[in-house]
Amino acid sequence: MTEPQIAKGLAGIYADTSRISKVFDETNTLTYYGYPVQELAASCRFEEVAYLLWHGELPTGEQLKSFEQHERGQRKISPKLLTVLRQFDKDAHPMDTLRTAVSFMGTEDPTWADNAPEANLKKALRLMAQIPTIIAADFRLRNGKEPIAPREDLSMAENFFHMYFGEVPQKEVVRCFDASLTFYAEHSFNASTFTARVIVSSLSDIYAAVTGAIGSLKGPLHGGANEAVMHMLLDIKEPSLAQAWIDEALSGKKKLVMGFGHRVYKNGDSRVPYMTKYFHDMAKLKDGEKWIEIENILAKTMLEKKNIHPNLDYPVGPAYYLMGFDIPVFTPIFVMSRITGWTAHIIEQLSDNKLVRPLAVYNGVPQRSVLPIDKRKAA
Ligand code: COA
Repeated sequence: MTEPQIAKGLAGIYADTSRISKVFDETNTLTYYGYPVQELAASCRFEEVAYLLWHGELPTGEQLKSFEQHERGQRKISPKLLTVLRQFDKDAHPMDTLRTAVSFMGTEDPTWADNAPEANLKKALRLMAQIPTIIAADFRLRNGKEPIAPREDLSMAENFFHMYFGEVPQKEVVRCFDASLTFYAEHSFNASTFTARVIVSSLSDIYAAVTGAIGSLKGPLHGGANEAVMHMLLDIKEPSLAQAWIDEALSGKKKLVMGFGHRVYKNGDSRVPYMTKYFHDMAKLKDGEKWIEIENILAKTMLEKKNIHPNLDYPVGPAYYLMGFDIPVFTPIFVMSRITGWTAHIIEQLSDNKLVRPLAVYNGVPQRSVLPIDKRKAA
């Protein structure tokens, strides 16, 4: 019998088909339903991209109006959920509080078990509408401030600033933030999306799948990297210290430089050059040019010495920092966006479902017999 081939981390394995997005590593392109993501970021608001991911086509003016009305009308969270948010420890990580809040949303929804596509689209919209409210309320409560109610006359990006800071910033800041949401929205079978698909493949429900996906995204090898990038930049402090920092990091064998590398893109992340432009706009607007200088030094050295390119979290981390967001809120903001991709995949998985159940090559001890307790020896 031939030895089974093991694909650690499922690297290089095609687990299913998907029509939602495609990563072209050869040409450094990412498309959502055929549209290059940079074109979407340049021409569309995030709400249009959410519609595209759920319906396969960009909305007409009328369709967008109706879609936004539904989204804006559901932004308020329930008094019960607000009470839950008030119970959290002030030091709890915002990804943990968000994960718990989303799970709680499932307990509030009597239609949770209905996995028909129309029912799941409704739930996806409810999640998209309320996740920003949860993140902003949680941030304010942990800082001793009262939550600010959502407004229906603002776009999703504008409303998030309003609920978080109490004001909507200049349009350049909103534009940069909105574009980051589009870049973060979808990326095929990444770890958190695959987690969501695995969970729902048992015919579990959308809230369970999103709760699991949030847990997966939290890790620093995945979404948590946007926080880790900013911690790294703050640790470096000044451009004059950057070269020595990266040289030392690369001299120690095992040190990962956060915001670099990607499982699929080996010649550069297609979204990075576009998001980097937005980050540079932010740096100029907010007097943060030193972060550009530090990032340039690290990126040049990583390419020269390791041939590794930055990923999307590299420009996003400092861009969010310059907008004034707390670092632990960066990954929850990623969730605000990726909820669209996750739920599109959940609906796609359920449309042609097969329980996900891979095999493992057993490499434990050979079969043996259970000894009575008085005959066992401590291992
Ligand atoms: N810093 C330093 N070295 C890195 C690196 C990084 N960020 N990313 C990859 N490498 C090195 C690995 O150490 C490995 O070197 P080796 O062959 O000498 O052991 C080589 O590049 C291949 O890396 P590997 O871990 O096999 O790639 P992967 O496809 O499994 O990993 C990531 C992809 C994303 C997990 C990895 O690049 C990483 O941990 N990056 C940092 C975290 C991050 O930014 N995550 C966000 C991803 S969008």
